[in-house]
Amino acid sequence: MEKVLFINGCVRPESRTMTLARRVLAGLDGETEEVDLAREGLRPLDLEGLRRREALLRERDYGAADFRYARQFAAADVIVVAVPYWDLSFPAALKVYLEHVMITGVTFDYSPEGIPFGLCRAGKLIYVTTAGGPIQGANLGFDYVKALAEGFFAIRDVRCFSAEGLDIAGADVKAILARAAAEIDWG
Ligand SMILES: Cc1cc2nc3c(=O)[nH]c(=O)nc-3n(C[C@H](O)[C@H](O)[C@H](O)COP(=O)(O)O)c2cc1C
Repeated sequence: MEKVLFINGCVRPESRTMTLARRVLAGLDGETEEVDLAREGLRPLDLEGLRRREALLRERDYGAADFRYARQFAAADVIVVAVPYWDLSFPAALKVYLEHVMITGVTFDYSPEGIPFGLCRAGKLIYVTTAGGPIQGANLGFDYVKALAEGFFAIRDVRCFSAEGLDIAGADVKAILARAAAEIDWG
């Protein structure tokens, strides 16, 4: 059975992004594990964390508790990321999570020439977002996640589903979400 890793970066209880993410998840076969970023309360990498990481990597202690998010990420077959569009990107909690996932020797490594190569199992990453206004080619959060997924994790199939313009006065939110849901159903 495929392992689906759902990285839930939705913040509001009434999240529209979460509605679309549920639609994506409903269309996937497999066992879903969720990382709810609001619950995890991960801390950004500070000096103490960095020193601990360096020591663990020197010892090649890839089974350390610090690397559990990276191990889980590397083991997933399909990764679903759901985040609202905030400040042209995504909430900072996702960046902090990615700091915990970017572990050399677990999710990726470097060739002797310094070229990254992937150690992840996943062949597919689906990014789901909703925006208050039009995204207009500035989906910087998705572009960043796509660059990491392709360049570091070697995930070949990286796609984004979005619903835009939800906070514009007079927007037909239901219709916009229904259109995005239909796109998700078509794949
Ligand atoms: C902190 C914050 C930053 C936001 N930044 C943007 C933005 O840069 N561009 C935009 O179009 N909408 C922005 N929005 C609006 C959200 O993208 C929009 O309401 C989205 O649908 C929220 O997703 P949710 O319903 O899943 O919480 C922002 C909202 C918040 C709370």
